Amino acid sequence: MTQKSILVARAIFPEVLEMLSQHFQVESNQADDVWPPDVLKQKMQGKVGALTSGSERIDAALLQANPQLQIVANMAVGYNNFDIAAMTSAGVLATNAPDVLTETTADFGFALLMATARRITESEHYLRKGLWTKWSYDMFTGAEVHGSTIGIIGMGRIGQGIAKRAAHGFGMRVIYHNRSRLSADLEAACKATYVAKEELLRTADHVMLVVPYSAESHHTIGAKELSCMKPSATLVNIARGGIVDDAALALALKNKQIAAAGLDVFEGEPALNSALLTVPNVVLTPHIASATIPTRMAMAKLAADNLIEFLTKGKALTPLNQVTGQ
Ligand code: 8YV
Repeated sequence: MTQKSILVARAIFPEVLEMLSQHFQVESNQADDVWPPDVLKQKMQGKVGALTSGSERIDAALLQANPQLQIVANMAVGYNNFDIAAMTSAGVLATNAPDVLTETTADFGFALLMATARRITESEHYLRKGLWTKWSYDMFTGAEVHGSTIGIIGMGRIGQGIAKRAAHGFGMRVIYHNRSRLSADLEAACKATYVAKEELLRTADHVMLVVPYSAESHHTIGAKELSCMKPSATLVNIARGGIVDDAALALALKNKQIAAAGLDVFEGEPALNSALLTVPNVVLTPHIASATIPTRMAMAKLAADNLIEFLTKGKALTPLNQVTGQ
């Protein structure tokens, strides 16, 4: 019997390629080229499954050109690179990689908050430039983290992980805003209080964004929202580019409308709004919140297991849609 063919669209752990090769004929991309949509569409020819990162867009045009495709497994919890409606109507199963990255990503959210509030990268740049000649009482004074108020927008698994770190580790007051309110039990575990978005923006010392990207969450933070925040506040975005209006944020940082920001994700990444590079009070990292070897391995294995389980047994582990007739 000829083996089913799958595509692994980006470079991946060799162990995971090996795992997939036990079941499928695998075309991989260990050179890690980022294929433009036309190339991706062409590479999908003849493949019944694909393993993607958040950079590969799965849309109606690709699906139309590849009617043989049955499943695309994203190695990411976020899946805004998938047109889920188009995939469902084409009968293509979509899967993501939830849970395995929750704690690692929450750790990073906290790291970015600390670096931002305590001006760690800004002060390191100063030191590296040889500008440090004396100690001064107010040199790189930042914002207090312990005992302050954190406002979390998006209280899914990662948001809850950040809330627990904040409440239990740093004695912070936790307020949150989410599409739906958490159960009383979960609120108690996170020591979190639900508030309206406006109140959160007005009262939080640190605003943390962990909301999934969608048309509704586009520019959750823009000029108007930034103007509601305290001038001493920090903003951290570990969610997705597009949740923040980066141009408005760069201006707010330049004008010291808010104190500082920490960004792991950007509108149009890996391209950056160049204004962000000209303001000192922003910490910038290249979308690495889930980047530890064990977590990236777990994400890759979960994506691979989704392909294996679905294509050999008809049932994926973490499906995002329902398809029939496979
Ligand atoms: C991924 C992420 O590394 O899981 C997500 O949604 O943003 C990151 O953990 C990235 O999307 C690449 O697939």
